[in-house]
Amino acid sequence: MKIISLKLENFRNYETLDLTFKDGVNVISGKNGAGKTNILESVYLSSLFGSPRTTKDKEMVRFGAEKARVKLTIEKKFRRHTIAMQIENNGKKKVLADGIPVKRAAELIGILGVVFFSPDEMKLVKETPSERRKFLDVGLSQQQKTYFIALSRYNKVLKQKNNLLKDAYKTNGVDDMLSVWDAQLAEYGAIVVEKRRKYVEALNELASEAHKKISGGKEELRLSYETPFTAESEDALRAEFCDRLEQAREKDKQLGFSTIGPHRDDISIEINGADGRKFASQGQQRTIALSMKLGEVGLFEKESGESPVLLLDDVLSELDEGRREVLLGIAKKAQTLITCTEFEGEGADRMIAVSDGKAEVLR
Ligand SMILES: Nc1ncnc2c1ncn2[C@@H]1O[C@H](COP(=O)(O)OP(=O)(O)OP(=O)(O)O)[C@@H](O)[C@H]1O
Ligand SMILES: [Mg+2]
Repeated sequence: MKIISLKLENFRNYETLDLTFKDGVNVISGKNGAGKTNILESVYLSSLFGSPRTTKDKEMVRFGAEKARVKLTIEKKFRRHTIAMQIENNGKKKVLADGIPVKRAAELIGILGVVFFSPDEMKLVKETPSERRKFLDVGLSQQQKTYFIALSRYNKVLKQKNNLLKDAYKTNGVDDMLSVWDAQLAEYGAIVVEKRRKYVEALNELASEAHKKISGGKEELRLSYETPFTAESEDALRAEFCDRLEQAREKDKQLGFSTIGPHRDDISIEINGADGRKFASQGQQRTIALSMKLGEVGLFEKESGESPVLLLDDVLSELDEGRREVLLGIAKKAQTLITCTEFEGEGADRMIAVSDGKAEVLR
């Protein structure tokens, strides 16, 4: 799929912006603070309903303005779509997909597929488990709506349960209420665990292949979903979930939060048999992270039959020649938006220069 055009109004440091993109590699260059990442952020927002760098939507409204607007036209295999978004400086957000109001994130996610590469993503291996879970959630949610819905419900119930657990000893009949939440956690949690496990299994195949290629066949990468749950099918998982929640009940009440479930899981990363999260060198970490992101792109293509739009924020300068070539090889086959400070226009299908909230198409 590809983005045909992007229009911004009072978004971050842009009063107005009107751009068209080409197939292949679109390079956005400019000095630090010029507004390069802001462009990628607006695209990411239109895909995932939220920004990759803030949870406060109103931060994206230009200082002093009342509302920000983002409008994207995209072309997929069989049809065109428009996504129009309006964010008010009180945080209210309105979204139209093909002219129809979008009430929940689930109705938007999946229309425009993106894979975001940023310096932060390149640190995935040494980050906390929550960042690796987010990596799974962002990839899977775009590919499978049922996953996103189950995850949202799970998180909502978890929040309610944790609120209850905070004052567990003060509340009468707390066990009855916890049982109600636990049944729902098991219901949605089983779906989350099952889908994540399958996803990481498939991801492992693609990522380890990419890793082998980048490392010149010297290193063996193995990814697996790290969870205490062992049951195989969704039904068996649900039963296991119920049992484990019951066993954890007293501990949860003492600690004041729910200690078991996919919100505590992780991706295990083995490199030549050792735990990469602890032992991978900086170069190895980057190769692993890059391989995982490339795996995400590959899975997206398998699942949907289309390439997602790749958003490469300032990552080329961090990679050495070999890794850069592998990434650019993939980037050329999809539509890619690349930001950089140095002019890296070689082989670009479109060159855009950004300075101080203004963009100029050079070719
Ligand atoms: N709500 C806002 N209103 C106006 N300007 C904003 C707003 N939010 C951020 N900015 C400005 O946007 C600029 C940062 O834009 P952006 O992060 O896209 O820069 P960049 O080109 O990616 O820079 P770098 O190369 O350092 O990553 C800063 O100058 C910042 O002050
Ligand atoms: Mg930037």
